[in-house]
Amino acid sequence: MKCRICREKAIIGLPQHNLALCADHFDNWMLKRAAKAIDEFKMFTKDSKILVAVSGGKDSLALWDILTRLGYNAHGLYINLGIEENDYSNESEELSRTFANRIGKKLYVVNVKEIHGMSIPDKAYSKKRKTCSVCGVTKRYYMNKTAREGNFDVIVTGHNLDDQAAALLGNLLYWKFDYLAKGAPYSPPLWKGEFAKAKPLILCTEKENTVYCLLQGIDYIQKECPYSEGATFLRWKHILNEIEENSPGAKQAFYLGYVKYIDIFKARNIDMPDSRCEICDTPSWNEVCSFCALWDLNK
Ligand code: FES
Repeated sequence: MKCRICREKAIIGLPQHNLALCADHFDNWMLKRAAKAIDEFKMFTKDSKILVAVSGGKDSLALWDILTRLGYNAHGLYINLGIEENDYSNESEELSRTFANRIGKKLYVVNVKEIHGMSIPDKAYSKKRKTCSVCGVTKRYYMNKTAREGNFDVIVTGHNLDDQAAALLGNLLYWKFDYLAKGAPYSPPLWKGEFAKAKPLILCTEKENTVYCLLQGIDYIQKECPYSEGATFLRWKHILNEIEENSPGAKQAFYLGYVKYIDIFKARNIDMPDSRCEICDTPSWNEVCSFCALWDLNK
């Protein structure tokens, strides 16, 4: 297999693009893919202050690296969830810190156990709730808080094409209209003065992000979160990979087609709440928002 551009030995085949590339041209192609998504969906500009939600995994570290190399002003946020199995949280924090030092960028660190006296799994157990749902509410709260307090213009996450296509499949199967309305690569600020949310690696696959990290020598956490094992989400990914193998490009056509027609689902979406949580003052449908209720916070 030869690189389509220079005819040197290719290191990756990209059948969905009818392409094979050598290391140098693949590196360049990744930067272009991210830049294309940023431009096409008008995510942000070189003047924007960007907060990268970093997990220590390949996707978020690849994203931070690519944005930095493209000349964007991107800082990181790592949220330590207190997951002790396999030393998951500490190791991913360490890798995130090492990477921030390597690129010379600021990393904000939030430690849930230090703030609330309890880890995410312990909180989930005490509330008889799923760990992933407690994790989601808590991460969302701290991402928004950090962005608001740091005057960031946009929060970016490392979601890749495989993530988005799998989420889309799951949401379509069960016709989850509220989620289907929110799967766009870019969500503008909900109200004036707030930050936007964007997924600049939406045109890149999991495999491409992995190869990018290997080529750049980026050390990332290779373990999966112990609570994600057996998740339904992984089944959707698996099914889509099988389809992709027989029909290269199907995954991208599936997701980008949905993005084109997303307004169909938005028509059914609910408005933003006009009331605020009486404890933390963030927009909320109830007197107390889901985060403050979860962590039993008082005024
Ligand atoms: Fe949230 Fe695993 S990362 S539960």
